[in-house]
Amino acid sequence: MPKNHIPKEICFKLFKFHAMKCFHYFKDKSRSKGQRSAPELKEERKSEEYSGPDRITKSSCSAASPRSIPELYEEKAHNLRVFSFSELRQATHDFNLLLKIGEGGFGSVYKGSIKPFDGKGEPVVVAIKKLDKHGLQGHKQWVAEVQFLGVVDHPNLVKLIGYCAVDGERGIQRLLVYEFMQNKSLEDHLFRRVFPPLPWKTRLQIILEAAEGLAYLHEGLEVQVIYRDFKASNVLLDENFNPKLSDFGLAREGPMDGRSHVSTAVVGTYGYAAPDYVQTGHLTDKSDVWSFGVVVYEILTGRRSLERGRPKAEQKLLDWVKLFPADGKMFSSIMDPRLQNQFSIRAAREIAKLADTCLLNSPKDRPKMSQVVERLKQIIQVSDEENAQEIESPEVSDIEPAETEKTSNQVNVSESWKRRMAHLAKLGEHAEGASRRRLMMLQRAGVP
Ligand SMILES: Nc1ncnc2c1ncn2[C@@H]1O[C@H](COP(=O)(O)OP(=O)(O)OP(=O)(O)O)[C@@H](O)[C@H]1O
Ligand SMILES: [Mg+2]
Repeated sequence: MPKNHIPKEICFKLFKFHAMKCFHYFKDKSRSKGQRSAPELKEERKSEEYSGPDRITKSSCSAASPRSIPELYEEKAHNLRVFSFSELRQATHDFNLLLKIGEGGFGSVYKGSIKPFDGKGEPVVVAIKKLDKHGLQGHKQWVAEVQFLGVVDHPNLVKLIGYCAVDGERGIQRLLVYEFMQNKSLEDHLFRRVFPPLPWKTRLQIILEAAEGLAYLHEGLEVQVIYRDFKASNVLLDENFNPKLSDFGLAREGPMDGRSHVSTAVVGTYGYAAPDYVQTGHLTDKSDVWSFGVVVYEILTGRRSLERGRPKAEQKLLDWVKLFPADGKMFSSIMDPRLQNQFSIRAAREIAKLADTCLLNSPKDRPKMSQVVERLKQIIQVSDEENAQEIESPEVSDIEPAETEKTSNQVNVSESWKRRMAHLAKLGEHAEGASRRRLMMLQRAGVP
C-alpha cells in the first residue's frame, strides 16, 4: 500500500472514535472576515453516539440494510487520486501565499495546478486545502470529508479530486484537492463589497440549485446524509455562478431503522444551526432545512444571519425579518438594497414564505428538501413566465411595472390595484396552465 493512502483500518477506527468520543464546537460567523478565528472548542454536551446500530463493524450489516458511508466509500475510493505531498507542494509553489485563496476553520486553501490524471494534456487548475495542525479533531473532519465526498456525486456538490495523507518524520500532513470554483463563495458575493451585487436571477438559481444539492444528500442516496454545516461560505460558485456545496467535515449519516434522529454532540455554526438541534443534540435532515431557511433570508436581504455591528433589534437576522412579514406591506424593506429594486416582489414574497416554513420551530413541521425544490421550481417558473410576458407586452409594463418593487407609500393603493388588475388581465390573455390559474385566483380575490 502506498505510504500516503488512508489505511482502511484508520478509517474504521476513526469512525468508531467518532461514534464514541465527545467533541463539541461551534463556529461563530458573526465576526467579519478579518476577525475570523478557528472554531472554538466548547464544553461537551453529550456523547457523540448513533441512535442507530453501530454500523462501523461490517458484521452488523445485513445484505438488505443500506450500506454505511465507510462501506460505500470502500467501493468508490478508487475514483479519488492519491497525491504525494511533494506533488501538491509543487502544485502550489511550496504553498506560496500569493496562491492562497481562502482560510477557514480547517486550514488554508490554495489555488494550484496539477497534471491531468493520464499525464497528457493541459494542467488542471484545482483548489488545495491544507489542514492546520489541529490534532485529531481536524483529522476526523478530514476523514469525513474524504469519505462523504468520495461517495456523493451531484452537480451541486463540489467534486473532490483526491487527497494526500502522509505521516512522515516531519509530522502529519492532510490535504484535499478539489475542482477549482472560480467565483469563490456565496458569502463573498453577498457580503463583500469588492464584488458586484448578485443579480436577482442568479440569486434564484443559487437558492434552487443549493436546495437540489441538499435534497440529493437527504433523499437521493442509499444512506441519508445530513450536511450539518449549510451556510453561505460553504456554497461555492463556479464560472457560471452555479452553486456547489463544500465542506463535508461535519456531515453525518442520518438515522436508520426507523429512528427519528441521530443523537450527536452539537457542532455547526452560530446563526445557522437549528435551535432544536442546539438544545437537544437531536440531529435530523430538518436541521439542514432550518439552515437553508437562514441562508435564503441572507440571499434576500444581503445581511448575515448574525451581525453584531448593527443596532440591537437588527443583529439577529431572523428576529429582524419577523418584523416585516412576507404578506405585509413593509416586506420589501428587508430586501437587499444592492438589488436596486431589480427583482420580482411577488417571487420574493413567495420565497420568504417558503423560508418561513423551513424556519418553523418544530422540525416535523418543516418541509423536506424535495418539497422545497418543487415549490421553488413553481415560484421561479411563474416568475419567468411573467417576465417573458412583460417583455412581450412592453406597453403594459410601462403602465405598471408590477413585478418591480416599489415602496408601499409610492402609489395610492386603489389606483395601484386597478392598474395591477389591468396588467394581470393583459397577462392573462397569454397565460397558460398554472400561471392562468394563479391569475384567476388573484382576480377572484379581487377587491382592494
Ligand atoms: N474548491 C474551491 N475552489 C475555489 N475556492 C475555494 C474552494 N474551496 C474553498 N475555497 C475558498 O476558500 C475559502 C475558505 O474555505 P473553507 O471551507 O476552508 O472556509 P470557510 O467555509 O470560509 O469556513 P469554515 O471553516 O467555517 O467552513 C472559501 O470561502 C473559498 O473562497
Ligand atoms: Mg467552508
